[in-house]
Amino acid sequence: MKVLILKNKNEIAKKVSEIILDIVRKKPNCVLGLASGKTMVPIYKELVKKYKKSGIDFSNVKTFNLDEYAIKENDRRSLHYFMNKYLFSKININKKNINFPNSKFKKYEEEIKKSPIDLQILGIGNNGHIGFNEPGSSFKSVTRKVKLSESTKKVNNVFFDYAYTAGIKTIMNSKKIILVAFGKDKAEIIKKALKEKITEKIPASILRKHRNA
Ligand code: GLP
Repeated sequence: MKVLILKNKNEIAKKVSEIILDIVRKKPNCVLGLASGKTMVPIYKELVKKYKKSGIDFSNVKTFNLDEYAIKENDRRSLHYFMNKYLFSKININKKNINFPNSKFKKYEEEIKKSPIDLQILGIGNNGHIGFNEPGSSFKSVTRKVKLSESTKKVNNVFFDYAYTAGIKTIMNSKKIILVAFGKDKAEIIKKALKEKITEKIPASILRKHRNA
C-alpha cells in the first residue's frame, strides 16, 4: 500500500480528481466505486470543475456507490440525494449506469461481479469503518443490510438504524482503491489503520493487504 501525505484538502481534491479523470480518459467505459460524506465534497467539486473545462465524457462510465441508508432514495438525507447534488446532476453520466446498494443487495453484488470496479474511492469513519462496514464486520463480507453503530449515527447526525453497504470483500475486489482522509478528527484512526495489526476491529486496516491501494 502506498501512503500519500498532501498539504491540505485542496491538494487532495486536485490529486484524487485527476486520478479519476485519468481513468475515465484512458477507459471511457470504466467502472467507478464512489463514496459520500464530507471528505468527498471537495473532490467532487474539483472533479466537476475539471469536467467543465475538459469536457470529458462520462456517458459510458458506470458507477457503484458504496452505501445508502435504508430510507427512500428521494429523501433529502439519502446518499442518493448527496450524490445528485454534488456530482451526478453536474456531469453527463447516464442515469442507467448509476448503482446503489438497496434491498436487492444480492443483485448489486452480482452487478459488480459482472462489471468489476476499476477504481474505488473510500472515506473512513472515525471508528475505522469503510462503507458502512462497522468494526467487527467480517473481512469476507459482501453487500448486505447492516445495523449502524450509535457512534456512526451520532457522527453522521442521522437517526436511521439500518443501511446497505458493499461488503469488505466486495471493496477488496476493486482493482485500485484510494482511501481519503483529512482533518484532525481522522488522525487517530488513520494511525491505527496503518500501524496496528490488521484486524476486523479496524475495518480499514485490511486495505494494507490490497495489491493496489
Ligand atoms: C460514512 C460513510 C462512509 C464515509 C465515512 C466518512 O459513515 N458510510 O462511506 O466514507 O463515513 O464520512 P465523512 O467523509 O463525512 O467523514
